[in-house]
Amino acid sequence: PSPAQNLTDDLRLAHLMADNADSITTSRFRARDLTVSSKPDMTEVTDADLAVEEAVRRTLSKARPRDAVHGEEGEDTGWGPRRWVVDPIDGTRNFVRGVPVWATLIALMIDDEVVAGVVSAPMLNRRWWAHRGGGAFAGKSLMSASPIRVSQVATVADASLSYSSIGGWVTSGHGQPFVDLMRDCWRTRAYGDFWSYMLLAEGAVDIACEPELALHDMAALAVVVEEAGGRFGNVAGERGPVGPGALATNGVLHDEVVRRLNTPVEAGDDDLEPSVEIPRVT
Ligand code: IPD
Ligand code: CA
Ligand code: CA
Ligand code: CA
Repeated sequence: PSPAQNLTDDLRLAHLMADNADSITTSRFRARDLTVSSKPDMTEVTDADLAVEEAVRRTLSKARPRDAVHGEEGEDTGWGPRRWVVDPIDGTRNFVRGVPVWATLIALMIDDEVVAGVVSAPMLNRRWWAHRGGGAFAGKSLMSASPIRVSQVATVADASLSYSSIGGWVTSGHGQPFVDLMRDCWRTRAYGDFWSYMLLAEGAVDIACEPELALHDMAALAVVVEEAGGRFGNVAGERGPVGPGALATNGVLHDEVVRRLNTPVEAGDDDLEPSVEIPRVT
């Protein structure tokens, strides 16, 4: 069957909201006409982030008035088991700087389980999506999509690892184990944000990890990774978008990576925290 025939009504709605988000974000990104402000936590937000979240909330209030909504830029609304989780622009720093790697993330959770997710990166000409039990897909659009699958790489020495930045690993206390893991992998790249996880779901990266993420950063990624055959959890090895941090692997490597990230540095080595030794990225 074509990927479109497998879609549930909820996933179809998520795609419609992503289409709408894409037209807002791409026109603002191309025009380079943004109002950037600082949030109380000193991170940046643009008027495009706010416009996308407002548009998603407006659609949901009409199409799913009984569902709860949790978005990065707004107040939580509603209550009950069905909850939409929205990150209007993941990669705001890229968006502001003119780097085309950013995406709108839209997920639906029922109780604590993510049941559907769409990740739309219009400037990469790519969208990824999944619904629970229905597989994961990627493509330019709904009609030109293919199923995606994680890699089968079986050893850290053969693995490609992607992350966003090193600072959080040090402050979270996993600095040295993370740097050791980077050193032992075949390749390390900071693709960053949603992109690390979507490359993992496509089999192009074998380990994707970040030490500090919130539910809105993770929900859509979690279902796409799992439906592509991978594992998604926190750095401690618990399943789901539960934080702290998000570790995704092709499944084969998961237990070993969890073990490595949680193995304390050898006695005498702990003076490497927090000024860890950073290997050359090759
Ligand atoms: C950020 C990205 C980034 C992570 C930050 C997030 P935003 O999301 O996910 O990778 O390191 O903690 O806030 O603000 O661009 O949506
Ligand atoms: Ca943000
Ligand atoms: Ca985000
Ligand atoms: Ca965001």
